[in-house]
Amino acid sequence: MLVGLCSVKGSPGVTTTAVALAARWPGVDSILIEADPAGGDLAARFGLSSTPGLVSLAAAARRSHDPALLAEHSQALPGELRVVLGPLGAERAGAALEVLGARGLGLLRAVATDPESVVLVDAGRVDPTSPVVPLLRGADALLVLTRPQAEDLSHAATLLTVIPTWSRHPGLVLVGPGYPRAEVERELGIPVVATLPHDPRGANVLCGRSGGRGPRRSALGHAAARLANQIHTLLDPQVGSDTDQKIRTMTLGTESSAEPDYSPAATPAGLPAQRAPGIATGDTAIPGITTARHSSVGNGAVHR
Ligand SMILES: Nc1ncnc2c1ncn2[C@@H]1O[C@H](COP(=O)(O)OP(=O)(O)OP(=O)(O)O)[C@@H](O)[C@H]1O
Ligand SMILES: [Mg+2]
Repeated sequence: MLVGLCSVKGSPGVTTTAVALAARWPGVDSILIEADPAGGDLAARFGLSSTPGLVSLAAAARRSHDPALLAEHSQALPGELRVVLGPLGAERAGAALEVLGARGLGLLRAVATDPESVVLVDAGRVDPTSPVVPLLRGADALLVLTRPQAEDLSHAATLLTVIPTWSRHPGLVLVGPGYPRAEVERELGIPVVATLPHDPRGANVLCGRSGGRGPRRSALGHAAARLANQIHTLLDPQVGSDTDQKIRTMTLGTESSAEPDYSPAATPAGLPAQRAPGIATGDTAIPGITTARHSSVGNGAVHR
Protein backbone atom coordinates (compact mmCIF):
# COMPACT_ATOMS: atom_id res chain seq x y z
CA MET A 1 0.00 0.00 0.00
CA LEU A 2 1.07 3.55 -0.72
CA VAL A 3 0.23 6.21 1.86
CA GLY A 4 0.89 9.91 1.29
CA LEU A 5 1.32 12.51 4.01
CA CYS A 6 1.29 16.23 3.40
CA SER A 7 0.42 19.63 4.83
CA VAL A 8 -0.61 22.90 3.28
CA LYS A 9 1.24 25.42 5.43
CA GLY A 10 3.20 25.62 8.65
CA SER A 11 5.14 22.65 9.95
CA PRO A 12 2.50 20.52 11.68
CA GLY A 13 4.79 17.49 11.88
CA VAL A 14 4.48 15.69 8.53
CA THR A 15 8.05 14.35 8.53
CA THR A 16 7.96 13.41 12.21
CA THR A 17 4.64 11.61 11.81
CA ALA A 18 5.84 9.84 8.66
CA VAL A 19 8.84 8.50 10.62
CA ALA A 20 6.55 7.47 13.49
CA LEU A 21 4.17 5.65 11.13
CA ALA A 22 7.05 3.89 9.39
CA ALA A 23 8.42 2.82 12.77
CA ARG A 24 5.05 1.55 14.02
CA TRP A 25 3.45 0.07 10.88
CA PRO A 26 2.06 -3.32 11.81
CA GLY A 27 3.54 -6.53 10.48
CA VAL A 28 5.00 -5.45 7.13
CA ASP A 29 8.18 -3.83 5.87
CA SER A 30 7.87 -0.09 5.70
CA ILE A 31 9.85 2.29 3.54
CA LEU A 32 9.63 6.05 3.78
CA ILE A 33 10.26 8.32 0.81
CA GLU A 34 11.18 11.86 1.72
CA ALA A 35 9.55 13.50 -1.30
CA ASP A 36 9.24 17.04 0.03
CA PRO A 37 9.66 19.48 -2.91
CA ALA A 38 11.29 21.94 -0.48
CA GLY A 39 14.06 19.42 0.23
CA GLY A 40 14.67 16.83 2.91
CA ASP A 41 15.34 17.16 6.62
CA LEU A 42 16.10 13.63 7.71
CA ALA A 43 19.68 13.42 6.40
CA ALA A 44 20.66 16.45 8.49
CA ARG A 45 18.60 15.30 11.47
CA PHE A 46 20.27 11.88 11.57
CA GLY A 47 23.74 12.94 10.41
CA LEU A 48 23.57 11.09 7.09
CA SER A 49 24.57 11.93 3.53
CA SER A 50 21.55 12.42 1.29
CA THR A 51 23.15 10.07 -1.26
CA PRO A 52 21.90 7.48 -1.98
CA GLY A 53 18.46 8.99 -1.84
CA LEU A 54 15.73 10.64 -3.86
CA VAL A 55 18.10 12.13 -6.45
CA SER A 56 19.92 8.86 -7.14
CA LEU A 57 16.58 7.00 -7.21
CA ALA A 58 15.25 9.42 -9.82
CA ALA A 59 18.37 8.95 -11.96
CA ALA A 60 18.00 5.17 -11.73
CA ALA A 61 14.27 5.33 -12.50
CA ARG A 62 15.10 6.89 -15.88
CA ARG A 63 16.70 3.59 -16.88
CA SER A 64 14.77 0.92 -14.99
CA HIS A 65 11.46 0.23 -13.25
CA ASP A 66 12.86 -2.54 -11.08
CA PRO A 67 11.04 -2.37 -7.71
CA ALA A 68 14.32 -3.30 -6.00
CA LEU A 69 15.56 0.21 -6.77
CA LEU A 70 13.58 1.63 -3.88
CA ALA A 71 15.45 -0.41 -1.28
CA GLU A 72 18.76 0.10 -3.11
CA HIS A 73 18.44 3.87 -2.84
CA SER A 74 17.30 3.85 0.77
CA GLN A 75 19.36 4.23 3.92
CA ALA A 76 18.74 3.02 7.45
CA LEU A 77 17.70 5.31 10.27
CA PRO A 78 18.22 4.08 13.84
CA GLY A 79 16.00 1.06 14.37
CA GLU A 80 16.67 -0.10 10.80
CA LEU A 81 13.96 2.11 9.38
CA ARG A 82 14.41 2.32 5.60
CA VAL A 83 14.26 5.86 4.19
CA VAL A 84 14.86 7.31 0.72
CA LEU A 85 16.36 10.59 1.86
CA GLY A 86 15.45 13.86 0.21
CA PRO A 87 18.26 16.18 -0.93
CA LEU A 88 18.95 19.58 0.55
CA GLY A 89 17.43 22.29 -1.58
CA ALA A 90 14.19 22.76 -3.47
CA GLU A 91 15.85 22.79 -6.88
CA ARG A 92 17.32 19.28 -6.62
CA ALA A 93 14.27 17.90 -4.85
CA GLY A 94 11.92 19.39 -7.44
CA ALA A 95 13.98 18.04 -10.35
CA ALA A 96 14.05 14.54 -8.81
CA LEU A 97 10.30 14.63 -8.20
CA GLU A 98 9.60 15.69 -11.79
CA VAL A 99 11.40 12.54 -12.96
CA LEU A 100 9.80 10.27 -10.36
CA GLY A 101 6.35 11.70 -11.11
CA ALA A 102 6.81 10.90 -14.79
CA ARG A 103 8.77 7.63 -14.57
CA GLY A 104 8.82 6.40 -10.99
CA LEU A 105 5.21 5.85 -10.09
CA GLY A 106 5.14 2.34 -11.60
CA LEU A 107 8.14 1.43 -9.49
CA LEU A 108 6.53 2.78 -6.31
CA ARG A 109 3.24 1.04 -7.06
CA ALA A 110 5.04 -2.24 -7.72
CA VAL A 111 6.51 -2.11 -4.21
CA ALA A 112 3.26 -0.81 -2.74
CA THR A 113 1.15 -3.65 -4.16
CA ASP A 114 3.33 -6.20 -2.37
CA PRO A 115 1.17 -7.17 0.63
CA GLU A 116 4.34 -7.39 2.70
CA SER A 117 5.23 -3.71 2.30
CA VAL A 118 3.98 -0.23 2.87
CA VAL A 119 5.42 2.81 1.11
CA LEU A 120 5.00 6.10 2.96
CA VAL A 121 5.49 9.32 1.00
CA ASP A 122 6.33 12.53 2.88
CA ALA A 123 5.11 15.08 0.34
CA GLY A 124 5.80 18.16 2.47
CA ARG A 125 3.65 21.23 1.89
CA VAL A 126 1.45 20.65 -1.10
CA ASP A 127 -0.52 22.70 -3.59
CA PRO A 128 -2.04 21.51 -6.86
CA THR A 129 1.03 22.65 -8.83
CA SER A 130 3.50 20.74 -6.67
CA PRO A 131 5.77 18.27 -8.50
CA VAL A 132 4.88 15.63 -5.91
CA VAL A 133 1.20 15.55 -6.92
CA PRO A 134 1.66 12.70 -9.47
CA LEU A 135 2.98 10.51 -6.63
CA LEU A 136 0.05 11.46 -4.39
CA ARG A 137 -2.37 10.58 -7.18
CA GLY A 138 -1.07 7.05 -6.91
CA ALA A 139 -1.60 6.89 -3.13
CA ASP A 140 -4.14 4.50 -1.64
CA ALA A 141 -4.64 6.88 1.27
CA LEU A 142 -3.65 10.51 1.72
CA LEU A 143 -3.28 12.15 5.11
CA VAL A 144 -3.37 15.94 5.34
CA LEU A 145 -1.79 17.05 8.60
CA THR A 146 -2.73 20.32 10.23
CA ARG A 147 -2.84 21.90 13.62
CA PRO A 148 -6.47 22.41 14.62
CA GLN A 149 -6.09 26.19 14.87
CA ALA A 150 -8.20 28.60 12.83
CA GLU A 151 -5.42 29.83 10.55
CA ASP A 152 -4.02 26.35 9.90
CA LEU A 153 -7.47 24.92 9.21
CA SER A 154 -8.30 27.71 6.81
CA HIS A 155 -5.15 26.91 4.82
CA ALA A 156 -5.92 23.18 4.90
CA ALA A 157 -9.43 23.90 3.65
CA THR A 158 -8.04 25.26 0.39
CA LEU A 159 -6.87 21.76 -0.52
CA LEU A 160 -9.96 19.87 0.49
CA THR A 161 -11.85 20.16 -2.76
CA VAL A 162 -8.97 18.73 -4.75
CA ILE A 163 -7.51 15.94 -2.59
CA PRO A 164 -10.48 13.55 -3.03
CA THR A 165 -9.61 13.58 -6.74
CA TRP A 166 -6.06 12.49 -5.90
CA SER A 167 -6.70 9.59 -3.54
CA ARG A 168 -9.60 7.25 -2.75
CA HIS A 169 -9.07 7.66 0.98
CA PRO A 170 -8.24 11.25 1.95
CA GLY A 171 -8.40 12.34 5.56
CA LEU A 172 -7.24 14.98 7.99
CA VAL A 173 -4.89 14.36 10.88
CA LEU A 174 -5.00 16.98 13.64
CA VAL A 175 -1.78 17.56 15.56
CA GLY A 176 -1.85 19.06 19.03
CA PRO A 177 -4.46 21.17 20.79
CA GLY A 178 -7.14 23.28 19.18
CA TYR A 179 -10.62 22.82 17.80
CA PRO A 180 -12.23 19.46 18.61
CA ARG A 181 -12.24 16.88 15.83
CA ALA A 182 -16.04 16.72 15.54
CA GLU A 183 -16.19 20.45 14.96
CA VAL A 184 -13.42 20.33 12.37
CA GLU A 185 -15.13 17.45 10.56
CA ARG A 186 -18.43 19.25 10.51
CA GLU A 187 -16.94 22.48 9.22
CA LEU A 188 -14.55 21.06 6.66
CA GLY A 189 -16.68 18.14 5.49
CA ILE A 190 -13.79 15.67 5.42
CA PRO A 191 -13.10 12.87 7.89
CA VAL A 192 -10.64 13.50 10.68
CA VAL A 193 -8.70 10.26 10.63
CA ALA A 194 -6.80 10.81 13.83
CA THR A 195 -5.69 13.31 16.40
CA LEU A 196 -2.05 13.19 17.43
CA PRO A 197 -0.81 14.52 20.76
CA HIS A 198 1.51 17.47 21.19
CA ASP A 199 4.47 15.43 22.39
CA PRO A 200 7.71 17.41 22.02
CA ARG A 201 9.84 14.76 23.72
CA GLY A 202 8.43 11.94 21.60
CA ALA A 203 8.90 14.10 18.50
CA ASN A 204 12.50 14.90 19.45
CA VAL A 205 13.51 11.26 19.23
CA LEU A 206 11.80 10.91 15.85
CA CYS A 207 13.78 13.96 14.68
CA GLY A 208 17.11 12.43 15.70
CA ARG A 209 17.42 14.48 18.89
CA SER A 210 17.95 12.75 22.17
CA GLY A 211 16.09 13.09 25.40
CA GLY A 212 12.81 11.27 25.11
CA ARG A 213 11.05 7.99 24.72
CA GLY A 214 11.30 6.15 21.43
CA PRO A 215 8.23 5.54 19.26
CA ARG A 216 7.48 2.24 21.04
CA ARG A 217 6.98 4.10 24.32
CA SER A 218 6.07 7.72 23.55
CA ALA A 219 2.54 9.10 23.37
CA LEU A 220 3.18 10.15 19.78
CA GLY A 221 4.47 6.68 18.91
CA HIS A 222 1.39 5.04 20.44
CA ALA A 223 -0.94 7.36 18.53
CA ALA A 224 1.00 6.66 15.33
CA ALA A 225 0.64 2.92 15.93
CA ARG A 226 -3.14 3.29 16.21
CA LEU A 227 -3.26 5.37 13.03
CA ALA A 228 -1.05 2.87 11.17
CA ASN A 229 -3.29 0.00 12.29
CA GLN A 230 -6.37 1.86 11.19
CA ILE A 231 -5.04 2.54 7.69
CA HIS A 232 -3.57 -0.94 7.39
CA THR A 233 -6.94 -2.51 8.21
CA LEU A 234 -8.67 -0.29 5.72
CA LEU A 235 -6.28 -0.98 2.86
CA ASP A 236 -5.03 -4.50 3.50
CA PRO A 237 -5.93 -6.63 0.46
CA GLN A 238 -5.74 -9.73 2.69
CA VAL A 239 -8.85 -8.66 4.60
CA GLY A 240 -11.49 -11.39 4.39
CA SER A 241 -14.45 -11.20 2.05
CA ASP A 242 -16.98 -10.75 4.88
CA THR A 243 -15.54 -7.42 5.81
CA ASP A 244 -14.51 -6.55 2.29
CA GLN A 245 -17.79 -4.90 1.38
CA LYS A 246 -17.84 -2.88 4.59
CA ILE A 247 -14.31 -1.71 4.00
CA ARG A 248 -15.01 -0.73 0.42
CA THR A 249 -17.85 1.49 1.50
CA MET A 250 -16.02 2.86 4.52
CA THR A 251 -14.20 6.13 4.35
CA LEU A 252 -10.94 6.71 6.12
CA GLY A 253 -12.55 8.35 9.08
CA THR A 254 -13.65 8.22 12.65
CA GLU A 255 -16.01 5.28 12.26
CA SER A 256 -13.03 2.97 11.90
CA SER A 257 -11.05 4.64 14.64
CA ALA A 258 -10.79 3.82 18.29
CA GLU A 259 -8.08 6.27 19.19
CA PRO A 260 -8.68 8.85 21.88
CA ASP A 261 -9.35 12.43 20.90
CA TYR A 262 -6.37 14.50 22.00
CA SER A 263 -8.23 17.74 21.47
CA PRO A 264 -8.66 19.63 24.73
CA ALA A 265 -12.42 19.24 24.77
CA ALA A 266 -11.98 15.50 25.14
CA THR A 267 -9.04 15.66 27.51
CA PRO A 268 -10.09 16.02 31.14
CA ALA A 269 -6.76 17.54 32.16
CA GLY A 270 -6.57 19.70 29.04
CA LEU A 271 -7.48 23.25 28.31
CA PRO A 272 -11.09 24.17 27.59
CA ALA A 273 -12.17 23.73 23.99
CA GLN A 274 -10.88 26.56 21.92
CA ARG A 275 -13.43 28.92 20.44
CA ALA A 276 -12.85 32.10 18.57
CA PRO A 277 -13.92 35.28 20.37
CA GLY A 278 -17.52 36.15 19.72
CA ILE A 279 -18.55 32.66 18.69
CA ALA A 280 -21.17 31.30 21.02
CA THR A 281 -20.91 27.74 22.28
CA GLY A 282 -22.90 25.58 19.91
CA ASP A 283 -22.09 27.76 16.94
CA THR A 284 -19.72 25.47 15.08
CA ALA A 285 -18.12 27.85 12.59
CA ILE A 286 -14.36 28.06 12.54
CA PRO A 287 -13.45 31.52 11.32
CA GLY A 288 -11.90 31.86 7.90
CA ILE A 289 -12.80 28.38 6.66
CA THR A 290 -13.68 28.31 2.99
CA THR A 291 -14.68 24.98 1.57
CA ALA A 292 -16.74 23.77 -1.36
CA ARG A 293 -19.43 22.93 1.19
CA HIS A 294 -19.69 26.59 2.09
CA SER A 295 -19.12 28.07 -1.33
CA SER A 296 -22.72 29.15 -1.69
CA VAL A 297 -22.46 31.33 1.39
CA GLY A 298 -21.54 34.86 0.37
CA ASN A 299 -18.06 34.87 -1.11
CA GLY A 300 -17.47 31.40 0.23
CA ALA A 301 -15.90 32.46 3.50
CA VAL A 302 -17.80 31.78 6.68
CA HIS A 303 -17.53 34.48 9.33
CA ARG A 304 -20.35 33.99 11.74
N1 LIG B 1 3.27 15.69 17.61
C1 LIG B 1 4.23 16.58 17.86
N2 LIG B 1 4.33 17.15 19.09
C2 LIG B 1 5.28 18.08 19.35
N3 LIG B 1 6.19 18.47 18.46
C3 LIG B 1 6.16 17.94 17.22
C4 LIG B 1 5.18 16.99 16.85
N4 LIG B 1 5.39 16.63 15.57
C5 LIG B 1 6.45 17.35 15.17
N5 LIG B 1 6.92 18.13 16.15
C6 LIG B 1 8.05 19.07 16.07
O1 LIG B 1 7.71 20.08 15.14
C7 LIG B 1 8.84 20.44 14.36
C8 LIG B 1 8.50 20.29 12.90
O2 LIG B 1 8.26 18.93 12.65
P1 LIG B 1 8.36 18.32 11.18
O3 LIG B 1 9.67 18.66 10.56
O4 LIG B 1 7.97 16.91 11.27
O5 LIG B 1 7.20 19.16 10.46
P2 LIG B 1 6.85 19.22 8.91
O6 LIG B 1 5.38 19.38 8.83
O7 LIG B 1 7.48 18.08 8.21
O8 LIG B 1 7.57 20.59 8.50
P3 LIG B 1 8.03 21.08 7.04
O9 LIG B 1 6.79 21.46 6.28
O10 LIG B 1 8.90 22.27 7.33
O11 LIG B 1 8.77 19.95 6.38
C9 LIG B 1 9.99 19.56 14.83
O12 LIG B 1 10.80 20.28 15.71
C10 LIG B 1 9.31 18.40 15.55
O13 LIG B 1 10.09 17.90 16.59
MG1 LIG C 1 8.81 17.94 6.65
